[in-house]
Amino acid sequence: MQIIIVDNVQHVAENAADWIEELINKKPNAVLGLATGSTPIYLYQELVKKYKIGKLNFANTTSFNLDEYFGIDAHSIQSYRHFMNKNLFDHINIDKAKTFLPTCEQGENPRKQGLAYEAKIKHCGGIDLQILGIGANGHIGFNEPTSSLASRTRIKTLTKQTLKDNSRLFKENEFQPTLAMTMGIATILDAKYVLLMATGEHKAKAIKTMVTGAVSAICPASALQMHENVIVLLDKAAASELDNQEYYLWADKENHKISQQFGLFHKF
Ligand code: F6R
Repeated sequence: MQIIIVDNVQHVAENAADWIEELINKKPNAVLGLATGSTPIYLYQELVKKYKIGKLNFANTTSFNLDEYFGIDAHSIQSYRHFMNKNLFDHINIDKAKTFLPTCEQGENPRKQGLAYEAKIKHCGGIDLQILGIGANGHIGFNEPTSSLASRTRIKTLTKQTLKDNSRLFKENEFQPTLAMTMGIATILDAKYVLLMATGEHKAKAIKTMVTGAVSAICPASALQMHENVIVLLDKAAASELDNQEYYLWADKENHKISQQFGLFHKF
């Protein structure tokens, strides 16, 4: 894992946006894997800024989101489709017909929908760069602790902890879905690059377990240790429980010299 520790939330967002800018400039028809939640909001703001000043053009890009609530109407303000439109798609020139979420509406078969989502990702050539956040319990996407490390897009029951963490996004007495469709851990591991962002002290324990704990289904993010190209972008608070922070800071400086000469991605 390439661990990058920066000062604050804004620097995490700017750094992540630079990765996306370089990818799209090198590969205009890149396939992005996108996430929702509080963490990527600042990244999306940076992408919108870059688009507005002409540094980014999304005309040929495709996107696949990690997850979507089960049985929720796409027009509902709680849907992840709504979140993505509001925070990113409505403000850039991406073709919305090429933005996908793993939806499963009432009456549809979640197993079939999961298989179809996997097939669509494959048909588009696979995900070039998957953006991830991480749950305080180590989840990625909605792959909750004990999810199979070989899992693929499917329906999952959310844990009480995740429901509690996400309850802030729902009004009192408003229906909060307890089921979601999510890419699986194996789906995420298929991406050519993975960029995981975490900010805040409440993520520090999960980050430590992900980076230095055993690879185990109890911390789904630990499966990323098995991936060839993972970038972990942290603010100081999220990195606070990591041992070897000095090493990561030093390695980042060395990596920076190499990327200045050869670019951030060796695959594109
Ligand atoms: C979102 C997702 C989740 C979040 C995670 C962190 O699409 O799949 O895994 O990335 O729950 O959420 P925030 O960023 O709100 O702390």
